[in-house]
Amino acid sequence: MNIYLETSRLVLRRFTADDLELLVSLDSDPEVMRFLTGQPTPRPEIADVVLPEILKVYDEHPGLGTFKAETRDGFVGWFGLQPTGVPGTVDVGYRLLRSAWGKGYATEGTRALIAHAFTGLGMERVVADTMAVNHRSRDVMRRSGLRFEKVYHEHFDDPLPGTEFGEVLYAVDRATWEAGAHE
Ligand SMILES: CC(C)(COP(=O)(O)OP(=O)(O)OC[C@H]1O[C@@H](n2cnc3c(N)ncnc32)[C@H](O)[C@@H]1OP(=O)(O)O)[C@@H](O)C(=O)NCCC(=O)NCCS
Repeated sequence: MNIYLETSRLVLRRFTADDLELLVSLDSDPEVMRFLTGQPTPRPEIADVVLPEILKVYDEHPGLGTFKAETRDGFVGWFGLQPTGVPGTVDVGYRLLRSAWGKGYATEGTRALIAHAFTGLGMERVVADTMAVNHRSRDVMRRSGLRFEKVYHEHFDDPLPGTEFGEVLYAVDRATWEAGAHE
């Protein structure tokens, strides 16, 4: 029903207005949020901002957005392909419940999204970024065929621990991906 993508263990679907509790459960774990905001996202913010924004992207950018991921045991988190403002370039991201870490789901979903970006959506470049100290996320990027491009620094009024090491950009272009860098 309304499937966006399937992998051997994951099914990705659009979120709906009924999915508030799934997002609340995901963003309530400080460890999940450690390199994002450093704290759980308040329920009203998810209801009033996060979920409406997710639904809006489906309308404004057909084929892109944030998609809930389920295994046969249920919800495990989300994967996303977001517009970047640069035509032909999308940003891939992921956020999983801690109980779903260490099973290869993030890499499996990210590889499928990158393949979909090139073969299904006709994109030319896929990028991903995270804090330099988010090694789990960097490992997912590397295993998914994205390549390290640069470290950059952003100003935050209330920086998270580790911000001093900067943010990292990973990317893969169509030619590199087609040449087999994703294998
Ligand atoms: C980033 C995040 C998705 C990474 O999750 P992860 O579980 O480490 O990554 P994967 O799903 O690719 O799993 C890889 C691990 O599963 C293991 N694994 C177990 N079974 C596996 C299988 N069948 N196939 C592949 N790997 C498997 C791998 O050996 C690896 O173990 P390791 O971490 O000990 O090296 C997760 O930490 C997260 O949601 N963090 C919070 C949100 C966040 O920071 N998002 C990124 C912001 S940009």
